[in-house]
Amino acid sequence: MAEAMAKEKINKPVDPKNLTEGEKKHIPVIYVPKSITAGEPFDVIVEIGSIPHVMEEKHYIEWVELYLNDSKVGRVELFPRKNKKAEATFTVEADRALAGKEAQLRALEHCNVHGLWEEFMTIKMN
Ligand SMILES: [Fe+2]
Repeated sequence: MAEAMAKEKINKPVDPKNLTEGEKKHIPVIYVPKSITAGEPFDVIVEIGSIPHVMEEKHYIEWVELYLNDSKVGRVELFPRKNKKAEATFTVEADRALAGKEAQLRALEHCNVHGLWEEFMTIKMN
C-alpha cells in the first residue's frame, strides 16, 4: 500500500489539560532520576501510559524510542508474549558539554492499533 510508505502522523491530545481515557493509555510517561549529571549515565523509564496500555496479541505497544535533544538514544521492541507491561528502560549519557544546561527528552511509541504518540520532558543537567 502506498499509504503505508507515507510518514505516519503523530497523535496529539485534543485538550492536553483534559486527557481522554484513550489518550491516557497512549501518551508515554517519562521517569528520570532526581539528579542528572552530564557525562554520567542515567536510566530513563518510559511507561505507556498513565493508564497502563494492554499488551495483548491483537493490541499492544510495538516499540518505544527515546531521544535526547533530537538525537536517538535507542529503540526498544516490545512483544505481547514477552512483555507483560508496556514500558521500556533506556540508559542515557548526556554529553559533558550539557552541564548546567537544560535538555529535552522525547519519548515516542507506536501502538499497533492506535498509531504514534509522543511526550516531552525538559531536564536540567548538573
Ligand atoms: Fe492502543
